[in-house]
Amino acid sequence: MSISFSQDLTIYIRAGYPVLNIISSEEDRVLERIDEMRRDQKHFPNGRELFIWTVSRGWLTPDGQAACREETRDPVAALAFVRKFEGRALFLLKDFHPYLDDRQQNASLAIRAVRDLVRHLTGTGKTMLWVSPVLKIPPELEKDVTVLDMPLPTEAEYRAILDGFIDRYGSSTRVVFDLDEDGKDLIVKACQGLTKCEAENALAKSIVGKGRLTAEEVDSILSEKEQIIRKSGILEFWASVDSFGNVGGLASLKDWLRQRNQGFSQKARDFGLPYPRGVLLVGVPGCGKSLCAKAVAAEWKKPLLKFDLGRVYGSLVGESEERMRKALGVAEGVAPAILWIDELEKGLSGLSGQGDSGVSARIFGNLLTWMEEKSAPVFVVATANDITRLPPEFTRKGRFDEMFFVGLPNEQERRAIWEIHLKRPAAIAANIDIDELVRCSNSYTGAEIAEAVVSAMFQAFDDGPREVSEEDMRQALAESIPMSVSHARQIQNMIHWAGENAVPAS
Ligand SMILES: Nc1ncnc2c1ncn2[C@@H]1O[C@H](COP(=O)(O)OP(=O)(O)OP(=O)(O)O)[C@@H](O)[C@H]1O
Ligand SMILES: [Mg+2]
Repeated sequence: MSISFSQDLTIYIRAGYPVLNIISSEEDRVLERIDEMRRDQKHFPNGRELFIWTVSRGWLTPDGQAACREETRDPVAALAFVRKFEGRALFLLKDFHPYLDDRQQNASLAIRAVRDLVRHLTGTGKTMLWVSPVLKIPPELEKDVTVLDMPLPTEAEYRAILDGFIDRYGSSTRVVFDLDEDGKDLIVKACQGLTKCEAENALAKSIVGKGRLTAEEVDSILSEKEQIIRKSGILEFWASVDSFGNVGGLASLKDWLRQRNQGFSQKARDFGLPYPRGVLLVGVPGCGKSLCAKAVAAEWKKPLLKFDLGRVYGSLVGESEERMRKALGVAEGVAPAILWIDELEKGLSGLSGQGDSGVSARIFGNLLTWMEEKSAPVFVVATANDITRLPPEFTRKGRFDEMFFVGLPNEQERRAIWEIHLKRPAAIAANIDIDELVRCSNSYTGAEIAEAVVSAMFQAFDDGPREVSEEDMRQALAESIPMSVSHARQIQNMIHWAGENAVPAS
């Protein structure tokens, strides 16, 4: 990934793009790349000078000397320096974005100065590189600024970080290193998704804190990763305990998922298979869609990231898009992972076009493009109840590998669901006739069956406590009105729609 970032950067610079905005919180790594690139004789036979600007020190040369006699800490003065400079050069500005924020005093002055400068830069061999951790470009500059993402370190870079630690502390008697090649591999894999600095901190924490670095430290690196996911504020790290064993029925869906799981292996890569993209589960509420999403992660032993689309929406212009990019970036960083988007239609509820000046349409567009173009192994499990609110683009092939309909459980499935939910440590009578319960729960959902067991348990607890009987459960069923009755028409419509559009999960 790093190679293509450097290549992209080279191409943009050689093609004379005036402003490149590099999104990264790792200024040092960006600087390393730029330094490598400008010395590359093949593409820049005469080299390119480099100047670095910060608001605290103004323009400096790469070795930290002031680049000119004038005072250039002021953003507009900084731009004047770029204009006056004669010769081909790269002008790297760290954290320039706050000066273009229209809530800031004088932002309009800085924006105007950039626009004027952009006209001047064309054809001069001078390029401005803005490095910022967030993407914030005012609408006036959108057409002039090209955005580039600096990817997180590659496996080889993490490996170099680890080797650096081993070189530095390997001979120390106070630190225990016990890592064979497999152990190193595990550590490197666990680091994926961390910035260079975060990976260094995680390793240093083990070495300094515990005085050791062995394959067992993988867990503490993983918990570091959990922190990062939390900090993103939109993704939630789920420790899933439900496996397929806790999901009754849905045999076709489970089989399909088992098959796709093999698609993550190196063997599958060698065979030429693409990574599985994702699955869309639609259907009757309470029949196990969310449960399946959680079970996939546990079954595949991959982290489960719950993506709350509702939390993406921010109040500032461009904020929602920015959060979306960030969340997807984190998911890719943690890959291989499962990205769980629950109740997709709710997150896109503004799509009908009222009120949010197209933000949901853009968020939705971003999500679709990402799903189609992502190269990292992030498997998306999306669930939805109301398919009528889902735009048709979602269900087109190429986004999800398959769309399954999870409907009311059939007889055999209800039996499996009862068996799962009766496996409780509480005292449940031994003489329960499951056939009878299966019959009584015809047209009940999995959630309604689970609820009946809980109600029956409360009843028995309140009465004694005593054993939970079959009669308690039949009564609990009888007292609740199943959704298939209370919402009969909606469910019929859904089943009808699914017959033509989705694959049955059972
Ligand atoms: N097939 C099933 N096997 C076992 N338990 C089930 C099954 N379906 C539903 N349940 C029980 O019902 C609960 C709710 O199911 P789940 O949250 O997966 O439904 P859902 O399809 O996501 O519903 P919604 O559309 O309302 O989000 C589960 O936690 C589980 O206890
Ligand atoms: Mg659900």
